Amino acid sequence: MCGIVGYNGTKNCAGIIIEGLNKLEYRGYDSAGIAFEEPSGLEVLKAVGRVCNLEKLVKEHKVKSKCAIAHTRWATHGKPCELNSHPHTDCNKEIAVVHNGIIENFAELKTKLSKKGHKFYSETDTEVVAHLIEDALKKEKDFFKAFTSAVKQLKGAYALAAVYEKSPGVICAAKKQSPLVIGQGKGEYFLASDVPAFLNHTNKAIFLEDGDIAQITPQACNIYNIEGVKQKRKVNTIKWNPATAQKGGYKHFMIKEIFDQPQATKDTISTLPPDVKKAFGIAPAVIKKIKGLYIVACGTAYHAALSAKYVVEHFAKLPVEVETASEFKYRSINFQKDWLFVAVSQSGETADTLAALSNAKKAGLKALSICNVIGSTIPRASDYTVYTHCGPEISVASTKAFTSQLAVLYSFALQLAFVQGTITKTVFDKLYKEFLTLPQLIEKTLKDAEEIKRLARKVYKNNSYIFLGRNASFPVALEGALKLKEISYLHAEGFAGGEIKHGPIAIIDKGMPVIALAPKGGLYEKMISSCQEVSARGAKLIVISNTPTKNAVLVPYTNEYLFPVLGVIPLQLLAYYISDMRGREIDRPRNLAKSVTVE
Ligand code: F6R
Repeated sequence: MCGIVGYNGTKNCAGIIIEGLNKLEYRGYDSAGIAFEEPSGLEVLKAVGRVCNLEKLVKEHKVKSKCAIAHTRWATHGKPCELNSHPHTDCNKEIAVVHNGIIENFAELKTKLSKKGHKFYSETDTEVVAHLIEDALKKEKDFFKAFTSAVKQLKGAYALAAVYEKSPGVICAAKKQSPLVIGQGKGEYFLASDVPAFLNHTNKAIFLEDGDIAQITPQACNIYNIEGVKQKRKVNTIKWNPATAQKGGYKHFMIKEIFDQPQATKDTISTLPPDVKKAFGIAPAVIKKIKGLYIVACGTAYHAALSAKYVVEHFAKLPVEVETASEFKYRSINFQKDWLFVAVSQSGETADTLAALSNAKKAGLKALSICNVIGSTIPRASDYTVYTHCGPEISVASTKAFTSQLAVLYSFALQLAFVQGTITKTVFDKLYKEFLTLPQLIEKTLKDAEEIKRLARKVYKNNSYIFLGRNASFPVALEGALKLKEISYLHAEGFAGGEIKHGPIAIIDKGMPVIALAPKGGLYEKMISSCQEVSARGAKLIVISNTPTKNAVLVPYTNEYLFPVLGVIPLQLLAYYISDMRGREIDRPRNLAKSVTVE
């Protein structure tokens, strides 16, 4: 949903800004632009399409500037074109603004400003902000005060940055519901929608909070609230290795991130000792009182949540309600006060998940969040947070975050069960011992990548794919289908194995690939009969199992509730190879952006 980058310091920032935009291209990539200070005034360059097009322009113009703001866009208001791309300027082209989010009252503001004689050139909601600042500067000469006055009039979600040619060396920024983080260097500050944009330059990050307005110069970053009261914000040290934000010799971020999974789960599991207070920060006395869970998330994170439902119900014998956040937030829920609310989100910024979380908080529930981005909004709005330690996930299609989310949720389910006394210490220890071996098991699973590539070659020309799973692996079937459709644009659907006879089997015909998850466990035989049913109708069957089975890709053995972490890996690889064989833009699929920070 758009990426913002800014720099204010002593270096020529052209390269820093382009590098930052490239790192944030996962957030949107239909156009890009930059506003930079030159001795002669403010200059703006824009290019439709990828950041590389803007990079060419920046090189042609031999940009040399020490203060700039820039943007990579994913269109919401107005089609992707040069006029609609950011930065947007005021009537005199002295103020430039970049924005991520949606200004809900922009039409009303535009009408008001037009009546005052302001001229608008784009169809965007953002342009009103530049004109509001211009308007405020008529009464108030101070840029920061004028910026604050403009922000006061906005309704909706925004991460904003602005520069003004008559106030050189100053960037003003504001945040509400869209992420914005400031990187602190020596005699320089960076501004970005996400940390990887500046991680090569500094690992010191200040996460702005909702309502914050920042004034950034090369020497200082002062943060105020809307009333002008100074705010203190923590400087976080980001431990991510900048190398994790590079492709490291892989063709795409997605395949690199699939292969990052042993390390990502190792780093995540290392923060999850078999002690609920140490791992989750929740006292056993609080855990004992939990009567049920609401787990809410979107997309891939929702699939991790759905799989966790089976695990919690099986081991902890507690009721679990799992729902996509976009539905949950609009339901009239009679919240059970002794249930724990759990939000799962890689980015920690997904607007739907955040809204669902705030509904639960308003109803008086305690909330645990499972997120990957340190200091992001969802953890800050939660009572307890556990981070997955995957490093930055750059590919739009989520992979390593999913397996780490499953790992955290599995650990939580076991600890819940043990503290509540539904499993004995002996069972808990045995299950936890198996859980701790996950990174090695993932490593072994990845050794089959070539076999999956061979299978992909057999099926990649098909236009329709079915994924089947049951129990904790049913959500993995949904995830396999989501992965494939996101990056290949092919039709793919996931079903519970037992459901196909109730309708979907009608679409199975000769040669249609059906990918079935069949771990050894309670429903193994039933899954095998579903496989026989589809085979009998001519489907090309691929089975993912952990026990010798006809047509199966074998993954290492674990109990069936841990199997999803391994079972999903062949599906991630299959989606990747099929899409690569089809020549798709794997890391930046059409119509998608990584972080959905608006409704
Ligand atoms: C799928 C994907 C999306 C996200 C979803 C939630 O590959 O990336 O479905 O999983 O938008 O995002 P987070 O986890 O950041 O809340």
